[in-house]
Amino acid sequence: MGNGLPPLIERAVEAATRAPSAYNTQPWRFLIDGDRIDVVLDRARVLGVADPDAREARLSCGAAVFNLCVSLRANGRRAPVRLLPDRLQPDLLAAITIEGEHEPSAADHALGKAVPRRHTNRRPFFERAVPAHARRELDKAAAASGARLALIEASARYDAIAVLTRRAEHIQATDERFQAETEYWTGRPAGHTDGVPAHAAGPPPDPDGALRLRPFRGGETLPARPYEQQPLLAALLTTAPGPRAEIQAGMALQHVLLTATTLGLAASFLSQPLEVPATCRAVADLFRAEGTVHALLRIGYGHPAAPIPRRPVAEVVTVRDNTRR
Ligand SMILES: Cc1cc2nc3c(=O)[nH]c(=O)nc-3n(C[C@H](O)[C@H](O)[C@H](O)COP(=O)(O)O)c2cc1C
Repeated sequence: MGNGLPPLIERAVEAATRAPSAYNTQPWRFLIDGDRIDVVLDRARVLGVADPDAREARLSCGAAVFNLCVSLRANGRRAPVRLLPDRLQPDLLAAITIEGEHEPSAADHALGKAVPRRHTNRRPFFERAVPAHARRELDKAAAASGARLALIEASARYDAIAVLTRRAEHIQATDERFQAETEYWTGRPAGHTDGVPAHAAGPPPDPDGALRLRPFRGGETLPARPYEQQPLLAALLTTAPGPRAEIQAGMALQHVLLTATTLGLAASFLSQPLEVPATCRAVADLFRAEGTVHALLRIGYGHPAAPIPRRPVAEVVTVRDNTRR
Protein backbone atom coordinates (compact mmCIF):
# COMPACT_ATOMS: atom_id res chain seq x y z
CA MET A 1 0.00 0.00 0.00
CA GLY A 2 3.04 2.26 0.17
CA ASN A 3 2.24 4.75 2.95
CA GLY A 4 2.54 2.41 5.92
CA LEU A 5 -1.14 2.55 6.88
CA PRO A 6 -2.91 -0.67 7.88
CA PRO A 7 -5.02 -1.75 4.85
CA LEU A 8 -8.27 -1.39 6.83
CA ILE A 9 -7.51 2.28 7.57
CA GLU A 10 -6.18 3.00 4.10
CA ARG A 11 -9.41 1.62 2.60
CA ALA A 12 -11.53 3.63 5.03
CA VAL A 13 -9.73 6.91 4.26
CA GLU A 14 -9.88 6.19 0.54
CA ALA A 15 -13.66 5.74 0.93
CA ALA A 16 -13.87 8.98 2.93
CA THR A 17 -12.19 10.92 0.12
CA ARG A 18 -14.94 9.74 -2.27
CA ALA A 19 -17.41 11.99 -0.40
CA PRO A 20 -18.93 14.90 -2.31
CA SER A 21 -17.65 18.42 -1.60
CA ALA A 22 -18.50 21.80 -3.10
CA TYR A 23 -16.43 22.11 -6.33
CA ASN A 24 -14.60 18.95 -5.25
CA THR A 25 -12.48 21.06 -2.88
CA GLN A 26 -12.05 18.06 -0.53
CA PRO A 27 -11.79 20.24 2.61
CA TRP A 28 -10.60 17.47 4.95
CA ARG A 29 -7.58 15.97 6.64
CA PHE A 30 -7.38 12.66 8.49
CA LEU A 31 -5.17 12.23 11.54
CA ILE A 32 -4.41 8.64 12.39
CA ASP A 33 -3.47 7.71 15.91
CA GLY A 34 -3.51 3.94 16.35
CA ASP A 35 -7.18 2.90 16.14
CA ARG A 36 -8.46 6.47 16.17
CA ILE A 37 -9.15 8.51 13.03
CA ASP A 38 -9.75 12.24 13.48
CA VAL A 39 -11.48 14.15 10.70
CA VAL A 40 -10.28 17.74 10.61
CA LEU A 41 -11.59 20.66 8.55
CA ASP A 42 -8.90 21.91 6.14
CA ARG A 43 -9.39 25.70 6.29
CA ALA A 44 -7.12 26.21 3.27
CA ARG A 45 -9.75 24.42 1.15
CA VAL A 46 -12.84 26.29 2.31
CA LEU A 47 -14.44 28.42 -0.43
CA GLY A 48 -13.86 31.98 0.80
CA VAL A 49 -16.63 33.55 -1.30
CA ALA A 50 -19.33 30.87 -1.63
CA ASP A 51 -18.81 29.39 1.83
CA PRO A 52 -17.27 31.99 4.19
CA ASP A 53 -18.60 30.26 7.32
CA ALA A 54 -17.37 26.83 6.18
CA ARG A 55 -20.94 25.49 6.35
CA GLU A 56 -20.64 23.55 3.08
CA ALA A 57 -17.18 22.35 4.08
CA ARG A 58 -18.57 20.88 7.33
CA LEU A 59 -21.32 19.16 5.33
CA SER A 60 -18.66 17.69 3.04
CA CYS A 61 -16.60 16.50 6.01
CA GLY A 62 -19.73 14.94 7.53
CA ALA A 63 -20.20 13.03 4.29
CA ALA A 64 -16.57 11.88 4.52
CA VAL A 65 -17.16 10.71 8.12
CA PHE A 66 -20.14 8.66 6.93
CA ASN A 67 -18.08 7.01 4.18
CA LEU A 68 -15.33 6.18 6.69
CA CYS A 69 -17.83 4.42 8.91
CA VAL A 70 -19.49 2.63 5.99
CA SER A 71 -16.12 1.26 4.91
CA LEU A 72 -15.18 0.14 8.42
CA ARG A 73 -18.55 -1.54 8.99
CA ALA A 74 -18.51 -3.24 5.57
CA ASN A 75 -15.06 -4.53 6.54
CA GLY A 76 -16.37 -6.01 9.79
CA ARG A 77 -15.47 -3.38 12.40
CA ARG A 78 -17.57 -1.26 14.71
CA ALA A 79 -16.82 2.44 14.33
CA PRO A 80 -18.49 4.76 16.86
CA VAL A 81 -18.24 8.46 16.04
CA ARG A 82 -17.95 11.46 18.35
CA LEU A 83 -18.75 14.80 16.76
CA LEU A 84 -16.79 17.88 17.87
CA PRO A 85 -14.96 15.89 20.56
CA ASP A 86 -12.78 18.80 21.77
CA ARG A 87 -14.38 22.16 22.40
CA LEU A 88 -10.96 23.83 22.20
CA GLN A 89 -10.49 22.53 18.64
CA PRO A 90 -13.62 23.49 16.66
CA ASP A 91 -12.09 22.29 13.40
CA LEU A 92 -11.65 18.79 14.81
CA LEU A 93 -15.03 17.72 13.47
CA ALA A 94 -15.16 14.06 14.37
CA ALA A 95 -13.23 11.28 16.07
CA ILE A 96 -13.86 7.72 14.92
CA THR A 97 -12.59 4.85 17.02
CA ILE A 98 -12.17 1.48 15.39
CA GLU A 99 -13.54 -1.01 17.87
CA GLY A 100 -14.40 -4.71 17.99
CA GLU A 101 -15.90 -7.01 15.43
CA HIS A 102 -19.10 -6.21 13.56
CA GLU A 103 -21.09 -8.65 11.42
CA PRO A 104 -21.74 -6.62 8.24
CA SER A 105 -25.40 -6.58 7.23
CA ALA A 106 -26.64 -6.68 3.63
CA ALA A 107 -27.21 -2.91 3.95
CA ASP A 108 -23.58 -2.37 5.10
CA HIS A 109 -22.34 -4.21 2.02
CA ALA A 110 -24.71 -2.38 -0.31
CA LEU A 111 -23.67 1.04 1.04
CA GLY A 112 -19.99 0.03 0.88
CA LYS A 113 -20.33 -0.92 -2.77
CA ALA A 114 -22.15 2.33 -3.54
CA VAL A 115 -19.27 4.52 -2.26
CA PRO A 116 -17.09 4.37 -5.42
CA ARG A 117 -20.13 4.42 -7.73
CA ARG A 118 -21.93 7.47 -6.31
CA HIS A 119 -21.31 10.69 -8.20
CA THR A 120 -23.01 13.98 -8.88
CA ASN A 121 -24.99 13.83 -12.11
CA ARG A 122 -25.48 17.28 -13.69
CA ARG A 123 -26.97 15.95 -16.91
CA PRO A 124 -30.66 15.90 -17.84
CA PHE A 125 -32.62 13.13 -16.12
CA PHE A 126 -35.33 11.00 -17.72
CA GLU A 127 -38.98 12.00 -17.39
CA ARG A 128 -39.57 9.16 -14.94
CA ALA A 129 -41.10 9.60 -11.50
CA VAL A 130 -39.30 8.39 -8.38
CA PRO A 131 -41.59 5.65 -7.00
CA ALA A 132 -43.02 5.61 -3.48
CA HIS A 133 -40.83 2.73 -2.23
CA ALA A 134 -37.66 4.60 -3.29
CA ARG A 135 -38.87 7.78 -1.58
CA ARG A 136 -39.45 5.80 1.62
CA GLU A 137 -35.90 4.40 1.47
CA LEU A 138 -34.44 7.89 1.06
CA ASP A 139 -36.54 9.16 3.99
CA LYS A 140 -35.40 6.27 6.15
CA ALA A 141 -31.74 6.90 5.28
CA ALA A 142 -31.94 10.56 6.34
CA ALA A 143 -33.78 9.67 9.57
CA ALA A 144 -31.33 6.89 10.45
CA SER A 145 -28.51 9.46 10.31
CA GLY A 146 -30.23 12.10 12.43
CA ALA A 147 -31.81 14.32 9.77
CA ARG A 148 -35.01 14.58 7.76
CA LEU A 149 -35.58 14.65 4.03
CA ALA A 150 -38.47 16.80 2.81
CA LEU A 151 -39.45 15.73 -0.71
CA ILE A 152 -40.89 18.63 -2.62
CA GLU A 153 -43.34 18.10 -5.48
CA ALA A 154 -45.00 20.69 -7.68
CA SER A 155 -46.34 23.23 -5.18
CA ALA A 156 -46.05 26.86 -4.17
CA ARG A 157 -42.93 25.93 -2.21
CA TYR A 158 -41.39 24.26 -5.26
CA ASP A 159 -42.02 27.38 -7.33
CA ALA A 160 -40.58 29.57 -4.59
CA ILE A 161 -37.36 27.52 -4.54
CA ALA A 162 -37.09 27.78 -8.33
CA VAL A 163 -37.46 31.57 -8.15
CA LEU A 164 -34.90 31.86 -5.33
CA THR A 165 -32.45 29.67 -7.25
CA ARG A 166 -32.64 31.95 -10.26
CA ARG A 167 -32.30 35.03 -8.07
CA ALA A 168 -29.23 33.61 -6.33
CA GLU A 169 -27.69 32.62 -9.61
CA HIS A 170 -28.18 36.10 -11.00
CA ILE A 171 -26.52 37.61 -7.91
CA GLN A 172 -23.59 35.18 -8.17
CA ALA A 173 -23.26 35.74 -11.92
CA THR A 174 -22.66 39.43 -11.33
CA ASP A 175 -20.24 38.93 -8.42
CA GLU A 176 -16.69 39.02 -9.77
CA ARG A 177 -15.20 37.37 -6.71
CA PHE A 178 -17.66 34.50 -6.93
CA GLN A 179 -16.96 34.11 -10.66
CA ALA A 180 -13.20 34.04 -10.04
CA GLU A 181 -13.65 31.32 -7.41
CA THR A 182 -15.81 29.24 -9.77
CA GLU A 183 -13.31 29.78 -12.59
CA TYR A 184 -10.51 28.54 -10.36
CA TRP A 185 -12.22 25.32 -9.25
CA THR A 186 -14.14 24.21 -12.35
CA GLY A 187 -13.52 23.33 -15.99
CA ARG A 188 -10.25 21.65 -15.09
CA PRO A 189 -8.36 19.62 -17.70
CA ALA A 190 -7.51 15.95 -17.05
CA GLY A 191 -4.74 15.31 -14.54
CA HIS A 192 -6.03 17.39 -11.61
CA THR A 193 -6.90 15.53 -8.42
CA ASP A 194 -9.24 18.23 -7.10
CA GLY A 195 -11.74 20.70 -8.59
CA VAL A 196 -14.38 19.76 -11.15
CA PRO A 197 -13.18 18.53 -14.56
CA ALA A 198 -14.81 19.94 -17.67
CA HIS A 199 -16.34 16.54 -18.51
CA ALA A 200 -18.41 16.55 -15.29
CA ALA A 201 -20.44 19.58 -16.43
CA GLY A 202 -23.93 19.15 -17.85
CA PRO A 203 -25.17 20.70 -21.08
CA PRO A 204 -26.27 24.35 -20.89
CA PRO A 205 -29.15 24.83 -18.44
CA ASP A 206 -32.60 24.89 -19.96
CA PRO A 207 -33.76 28.54 -19.96
CA ASP A 208 -37.41 27.43 -19.62
CA GLY A 209 -36.86 24.58 -17.16
CA ALA A 210 -38.57 24.65 -13.77
CA LEU A 211 -35.23 24.51 -11.97
CA ARG A 212 -32.04 26.20 -12.97
CA LEU A 213 -28.97 24.04 -12.36
CA ARG A 214 -25.68 25.82 -11.80
CA PRO A 215 -23.77 25.95 -15.10
CA PHE A 216 -20.24 24.52 -14.84
CA ARG A 217 -17.29 25.42 -17.05
CA GLY A 218 -16.99 22.83 -19.82
CA GLY A 219 -20.77 22.48 -20.23
CA GLU A 220 -21.16 25.54 -22.46
CA THR A 221 -19.62 23.72 -25.43
CA LEU A 222 -21.99 20.73 -25.16
CA PRO A 223 -25.03 20.59 -27.43
CA ALA A 224 -28.14 21.76 -25.56
CA ARG A 225 -30.45 18.94 -24.42
CA PRO A 226 -33.78 19.26 -22.70
CA TYR A 227 -33.72 18.78 -18.92
CA GLU A 228 -36.62 17.03 -17.21
CA GLN A 229 -39.55 19.37 -16.73
CA GLN A 230 -40.04 19.13 -12.98
CA PRO A 231 -37.42 17.08 -11.17
CA LEU A 232 -38.10 15.78 -7.69
CA LEU A 233 -36.54 18.15 -5.18
CA ALA A 234 -35.42 17.22 -1.69
CA ALA A 235 -34.41 19.42 1.22
CA LEU A 236 -32.21 17.94 3.92
CA LEU A 237 -33.14 19.30 7.36
CA THR A 238 -32.10 19.04 10.97
CA THR A 239 -34.03 20.33 13.94
CA ALA A 240 -31.17 22.50 15.24
CA PRO A 241 -28.76 24.85 13.40
CA GLY A 242 -24.99 25.14 13.98
CA PRO A 243 -21.73 23.31 13.28
CA ARG A 244 -22.69 20.02 14.96
CA ALA A 245 -25.92 19.91 12.95
CA GLU A 246 -23.95 20.65 9.78
CA ILE A 247 -21.66 17.66 10.32
CA GLN A 248 -24.64 15.47 11.20
CA ALA A 249 -26.46 16.72 8.09
CA GLY A 250 -23.40 15.86 6.00
CA MET A 251 -23.52 12.30 7.34
CA ALA A 252 -27.23 12.07 6.55
CA LEU A 253 -26.64 13.63 3.12
CA GLN A 254 -24.20 10.87 2.28
CA HIS A 255 -26.53 8.21 3.66
CA VAL A 256 -29.24 9.55 1.33
CA LEU A 257 -26.90 9.79 -1.68
CA LEU A 258 -25.51 6.27 -1.21
CA THR A 259 -29.03 4.90 -0.74
CA ALA A 260 -30.06 6.69 -3.94
CA THR A 261 -27.13 5.01 -5.71
CA THR A 262 -28.22 1.57 -4.49
CA LEU A 263 -31.71 2.32 -5.88
CA GLY A 264 -30.35 3.30 -9.30
CA LEU A 265 -31.18 6.97 -8.68
CA ALA A 266 -29.03 9.93 -9.71
CA ALA A 267 -28.69 13.19 -7.80
CA SER A 268 -27.25 16.66 -8.09
CA PHE A 269 -27.18 19.73 -5.84
CA LEU A 270 -28.83 23.13 -6.02
CA SER A 271 -26.68 25.18 -3.69
CA GLN A 272 -26.99 28.65 -5.20
CA PRO A 273 -29.92 29.79 -3.00
CA LEU A 274 -28.16 28.61 0.16
CA GLU A 275 -24.92 30.44 -0.69
CA VAL A 276 -26.38 33.94 -1.07
CA PRO A 277 -27.41 35.43 2.31
CA ALA A 278 -30.68 37.03 1.13
CA THR A 279 -31.97 33.95 -0.70
CA CYS A 280 -30.70 31.67 2.06
CA ARG A 281 -32.86 33.55 4.57
CA ALA A 282 -35.83 33.21 2.22
CA VAL A 283 -35.25 29.44 1.88
CA ALA A 284 -34.99 29.21 5.68
CA ASP A 285 -38.38 30.97 5.94
CA LEU A 286 -39.95 28.40 3.61
CA PHE A 287 -38.91 25.63 6.00
CA ARG A 288 -39.12 27.58 9.28
CA ALA A 289 -41.65 25.18 10.84
CA GLU A 290 -39.58 22.10 9.97
CA GLY A 291 -36.02 22.97 10.95
CA THR A 292 -32.77 24.12 9.34
CA VAL A 293 -32.17 23.43 5.63
CA HIS A 294 -28.65 22.23 4.84
CA ALA A 295 -28.86 21.05 1.24
CA LEU A 296 -31.22 21.02 -1.71
CA LEU A 297 -31.02 18.04 -4.04
CA ARG A 298 -32.47 17.12 -7.42
CA ILE A 299 -33.20 13.41 -7.59
CA GLY A 300 -34.20 11.23 -10.53
CA TYR A 301 -33.11 8.66 -13.07
CA GLY A 302 -30.40 9.34 -15.63
CA HIS A 303 -27.56 7.82 -17.60
CA PRO A 304 -24.63 7.48 -15.21
CA ALA A 305 -21.77 9.96 -15.53
CA ALA A 306 -18.15 9.09 -14.64
CA PRO A 307 -16.81 9.52 -11.08
CA ILE A 308 -14.23 12.32 -10.87
CA PRO A 309 -10.73 12.17 -9.30
CA ARG A 310 -9.67 12.66 -5.70
CA ARG A 311 -6.36 13.46 -4.02
CA PRO A 312 -4.52 10.28 -3.03
CA VAL A 313 -4.74 9.05 0.56
CA ALA A 314 -1.10 9.96 1.25
CA GLU A 315 -1.91 13.63 0.60
CA VAL A 316 -4.74 13.85 3.11
CA VAL A 317 -3.41 11.73 5.96
CA THR A 318 -1.12 12.53 8.87
CA VAL A 319 0.01 9.65 11.05
CA ARG A 320 0.63 10.76 14.65
CA ASP A 321 4.12 9.89 15.79
CA ASN A 322 3.55 8.43 19.25
CA THR A 323 7.18 7.51 19.77
CA ARG A 324 8.02 11.04 20.90
CA ARG A 325 5.30 11.23 23.59
C1 LIG B 1 -22.20 21.08 0.17
C2 LIG B 1 -22.13 20.77 -1.30
C3 LIG B 1 -22.64 21.66 -2.23
C4 LIG B 1 -22.62 21.37 -3.59
N1 LIG B 1 -23.20 22.24 -4.49
C5 LIG B 1 -23.25 21.92 -5.80
C6 LIG B 1 -23.95 22.73 -6.74
O1 LIG B 1 -24.55 23.75 -6.39
N2 LIG B 1 -23.99 22.35 -8.04
C7 LIG B 1 -23.39 21.19 -8.46
O2 LIG B 1 -23.48 20.87 -9.64
N3 LIG B 1 -22.71 20.40 -7.61
C8 LIG B 1 -22.65 20.72 -6.30
N4 LIG B 1 -22.02 19.88 -5.40
C9 LIG B 1 -21.42 18.65 -5.89
C10 LIG B 1 -19.90 18.76 -6.00
O3 LIG B 1 -19.53 19.62 -7.05
C11 LIG B 1 -19.34 17.35 -6.16
O4 LIG B 1 -19.63 16.61 -5.00
C12 LIG B 1 -17.84 17.33 -6.37
O5 LIG B 1 -17.50 17.96 -7.57
C13 LIG B 1 -17.30 15.90 -6.37
O6 LIG B 1 -17.91 15.16 -7.40
P1 LIG B 1 -18.78 13.87 -7.13
O7 LIG B 1 -19.93 14.26 -6.24
O8 LIG B 1 -19.23 13.46 -8.50
O9 LIG B 1 -17.92 12.85 -6.48
C14 LIG B 1 -22.03 20.15 -4.03
C15 LIG B 1 -21.50 19.26 -3.09
C16 LIG B 1 -21.56 19.55 -1.75
C17 LIG B 1 -21.04 18.55 -0.74
